[in-house]
Amino acid sequence: MQRTDYCGRLTAHDIGRRVTVAGWVRRRRDLGALTFVDLRDASGVIQLLFAGDDPALAAGHTLNREDVIAATGTVAARGEKDVNPDMVTGEIEVRVEQVEILNRSRTPPFLVDGDGSDTTEETRLRFRYVDLRRDRMQRNLRLRHRVFKGMRDYFSEHGFIEIETPVLTKSTPEGARDFLVPSRLAPGRFYALPQSPQLFKQLFMIGGIDRYFQLVKCFRDEDLRADRQPEFTQLDLEISFPHGKDEIFALLEGMTAHLFHEIMGIELSPPFPRIPYREAIARYGSDKPDLRFGMEIHDLSAIVKESGFRVFDAAVARGGKVIGINAPGCAKYSRGTIDKLQEIAVAAGAHGLAWIKVEEEPRTPISKYLSTDVMSGIISTLEAQHGDLILILAGTEIEPALGAVRLEIARRENMARSEWNFLWVTDFPLFERDEDGGLTSEHHPFTAPRVEDIPRLESDPISVLSDAYDLVLNGTELGSGSIRIHSRTMQERIFKLLGITPEEAELRFGFFLQALEYGAPPHGGFALGVDRLVMMMAGERSLRDVIAFPKTTTGVCPLTEAPMPVAPAQLDELGIRLKQNG
Ligand code: AMO
Repeated sequence: MQRTDYCGRLTAHDIGRRVTVAGWVRRRRDLGALTFVDLRDASGVIQLLFAGDDPALAAGHTLNREDVIAATGTVAARGEKDVNPDMVTGEIEVRVEQVEILNRSRTPPFLVDGDGSDTTEETRLRFRYVDLRRDRMQRNLRLRHRVFKGMRDYFSEHGFIEIETPVLTKSTPEGARDFLVPSRLAPGRFYALPQSPQLFKQLFMIGGIDRYFQLVKCFRDEDLRADRQPEFTQLDLEISFPHGKDEIFALLEGMTAHLFHEIMGIELSPPFPRIPYREAIARYGSDKPDLRFGMEIHDLSAIVKESGFRVFDAAVARGGKVIGINAPGCAKYSRGTIDKLQEIAVAAGAHGLAWIKVEEEPRTPISKYLSTDVMSGIISTLEAQHGDLILILAGTEIEPALGAVRLEIARRENMARSEWNFLWVTDFPLFERDEDGGLTSEHHPFTAPRVEDIPRLESDPISVLSDAYDLVLNGTELGSGSIRIHSRTMQERIFKLLGITPEEAELRFGFFLQALEYGAPPHGGFALGVDRLVMMMAGERSLRDVIAFPKTTTGVCPLTEAPMPVAPAQLDELGIRLKQNG
């Protein structure tokens, strides 16, 4: 019995046709002489009717969920009472004349048609092959395919070629730990899985490739979260002789608009707004600001100056600030809710959170420190109305803490407008201070400093801005990129500032430093987290819902149970001995 039609594609036009369909039993209803079976394949569901006492149809009464069958019969209109408007094929059914059971299924661990509430994610991942039959997973993986195809089409049309880069390679610094692969042929030596193809794509530019892209797996051993997987996919790209970052922005804006038009039927309107990093931090307390709602941060330092409140005065005296946001309609918050907000602020580095409920008579625990003038100055700066809640932090670099409070209030109040809010964050600092007071790269060490800041590289490195940029969608970092360093001298200068000795630079990046001496053109590029984009387009909250075989937050694959111990002989061959645990 060979399939002639897909279940979900049959319509009333097919009435009278003899067809063969094949798929999985979604459910069976036995009504005495009549047995109804919903049959599912990749296209959808069709109702099969087993009627009469033809022994050839007896098997129909024995079918169970997820059995695999093929059935031949005639497409017919359903009885009027039987029409199901909720089903695409709800007007018709196939009256079965012949059935073949291709394979029985054990009772599935959860309902393929359920909403997932009858099981845990762990079980879904352990039986992922059953889980993949669910509508939602089918939809997400198809969407993922369309995103891949849309990206490949777009960049191919724009003169890019896709080239693969090695997976067994040398460490590329992107800020995470490497996954290491021991070498059998060179015992004691290790490959690193790439955190990104960063150096290879730069070598492509030196190699005259001009425009490169790749849909590529990257590997990072870092703490996992809903939007982080140890292996994930980047849309990676690089171009030579770029017309500054504008050319890279235009390419990505064009691609995103193309995807949203083709796949979602949504018209985006590039160019996307651009916000310098400093402004994003000052106004939203985040380098990936969510602009689907307001609640901007305001600097209140000048207003509370000399208020006599020790906490405020001390913050300003130490070069810090007093900053506030207005949460509209949130004067209703209980003490308990405000305490939760305070916990969030403290976890993000603040010392405490001051609040004012804007009512007939403003209510605040710090009323005795604020004169009427100062109070009304705060209220008018934040444009607060009756019923609003003002939240204030004092200290240095406390914007991220107030930014975290801002996000929490927006979440509680469901403030985010339903929109696709893309924006570029630009002008990142080149360096940040690490815990030991040394410099680390804010992006990665191959990012070019802004030309006008180069004279300050040694004298005031923290003030130096870079030509790095991030693409942000609804408060999520989708991707980042930069214009690169293309001279050996500058690259060595940056390594030196990062505290990398010439010997270490030679050992880790000698091949690359040498390549910079053989005609490296100006170049720049970008990498976009494809899993994150697909997750957002699919309306999912976890990358695990858009990756076929993802890892859990502890880095385990419940299906294969990787990672696994290996046989002592395998370790021997690699020249590895394990430390005894404990
Ligand atoms: P970056 O490290 O910012 O830049 O990575 C680019 C994008 O990749 C995605 N991403 C992840 N997605 C899922 N799980 C993870 N663990 C994970 N880590 C990163 C994010 C991120 O924005 N080579 C540079 C790019 C360049 O300069 O061209 C790079 O890799 O969406």
